[in-house]
Amino acid sequence: SMTNRKKLIIDTDCGSDDAMAIAMALRDPRYEILCFTIVAGNVDARQAASNTLATIERAGSYEPPVYIGAEQMLLKELAFAYETHGMEGMGDLGIRPERLSPAKGHGVLKLLEILRESQEGEIDLITLGPLTNLALAIRLEPETVRRAGRIVMMGSAGMGGGNVTATAEFNIWQDGEAAKIVLESGLQNMMLVGWDACLGDCMLNEREFGRLRDSGDLGRFTVDINGALMELNRQRFGEDCLDMADPAAMAAALCPECVREVGEYYCEVDTSCGPGYGTVLVDRYGFSGKAPNVSVCSGLWPQRYKDYIFQTLGSCGKR
Ligand code: RIB
Ligand code: CA
Repeated sequence: SMTNRKKLIIDTDCGSDDAMAIAMALRDPRYEILCFTIVAGNVDARQAASNTLATIERAGSYEPPVYIGAEQMLLKELAFAYETHGMEGMGDLGIRPERLSPAKGHGVLKLLEILRESQEGEIDLITLGPLTNLALAIRLEPETVRRAGRIVMMGSAGMGGGNVTATAEFNIWQDGEAAKIVLESGLQNMMLVGWDACLGDCMLNEREFGRLRDSGDLGRFTVDINGALMELNRQRFGEDCLDMADPAAMAAALCPECVREVGEYYCEVDTSCGPGYGTVLVDRYGFSGKAPNVSVCSGLWPQRYKDYIFQTLGSCGKR
């Protein structure tokens, strides 16, 4: 029933891996997504909203409102990742919503309005893009943001290497100042899911995305929109594989038994203008002497993670 479902707000820069994560969340009956808030990142905010709306329609489940938030980063100019997700962020398949459009209201103000009226800890926040909206919410009403329960963010290279520079991961690198505000906010219950959590045995291989594709319309949609990423990986890793960062973060958030590696660390963001910009420095040995401010998930149990993807997106994931 709708009552005992855990409430979520999902913030997204909806590219092709966000879309898979959003579809998974919409089809997990244990959760109720109150709304989506949009941030620019993979693509501009309007395109990310369009991609989110199209994904909601394709998921064939309930249809939470989509509120557009930050269209620019706090300070840094936007740099789009067209080579990763295609021009419109969904594998250049011309995907667009047939029926739905963005709801009225700014994403940051709607996030605060919903949190203001919620019980302490009632709503978990999951972010899949740059942390601009969350940073703005913290700057506007820090006490209201403290009302959130868990805050699970796809961001950082975890304990591994970066995907934009040697050490920086895209969501952090796209708005390093926003990430710095979030990590220094003093908020409890924050977890960063690193890019490394979706690598290695957690990559979707050709057999697995073939199985997902054949599992039904939604599975096929989530694989086909990742075609540009598959092509990029053919060049990057020399094989057909999908590093599904946002689905990994979603699995870590909604299916905690998938989490294999996680620890609490003092982390800080490099916002200096040099080669290290956007790096999350994880103080893994405690040399800083500073108290941990965030958990870092750097690995999932491959089979549990993939079973969760198939369970929510496959034909057996009936609502
Ligand atoms: O580094 C991966 C992250 O950057 C994912 O959220 C992907 O969608 C992009 O936003
Ligand atoms: Ca994303």
